Amino acid sequence: METGMLHLHSVLRWVIILLLLITLFGAIAKKTSIRSSSLWLLIASHTMLLIGLYQLIAGRFGIMKGLPQGVELMGDGFYRFFWVEHPLLMIIAIGLITVARGKAKALNYRATAWLLFIALILILAAVPWPFRGVVGDGRTWFPGM
Ligand code: HEM
Repeated sequence: METGMLHLHSVLRWVIILLLLITLFGAIAKKTSIRSSSLWLLIASHTMLLIGLYQLIAGRFGIMKGLPQGVELMGDGFYRFFWVEHPLLMIIAIGLITVARGKAKALNYRATAWLLFIALILILAAVPWPFRGVVGDGRTWFPGM
């Protein structure tokens, strides 16, 4: 269950980044297709939120497992990232995606593009990419690779 959720969380990142780019460029090119791509993006990102919350609460480094002996939350780069920074930035990004969906539905291209652009920056900044030191250690670009 834990591994399955982590793999799903890992692969959904690419789905979200792809759908976000499709909708962002669609908005810049003023394409009516953003109505449907923004809906898929909304669904993918809200699914991600649920999986993320599960991991944050019940995952292998989740709150239910508690902090290891002697670790202080804000003083430890790993736990600060996964309990505070990553969830916070991702929830803001998902909020922006949600507002953008409303704008895309109304074919407000400019607002959609700006909201998604900011969401993309936040997501790229908050993913524990494999090159990101302690938070990326042992993590992969794709699940199981
Ligand atoms: C667009 C939204 C999100 C993206 C792109 C994203 C991406 C990722 C990635 C790539 C990983 C590493 C997966 C791996 O090691 O294979 C990860 C781990 C994690 N994410 Fe997210 N995430 C998002 C949202 C969230 C949210 C909203 C939460 C919590 C509320 C969350 C909580 C976690 C936790 C706790 C881990 C560590 C899991 C573990 O190592 O066992 N994520 N995330």
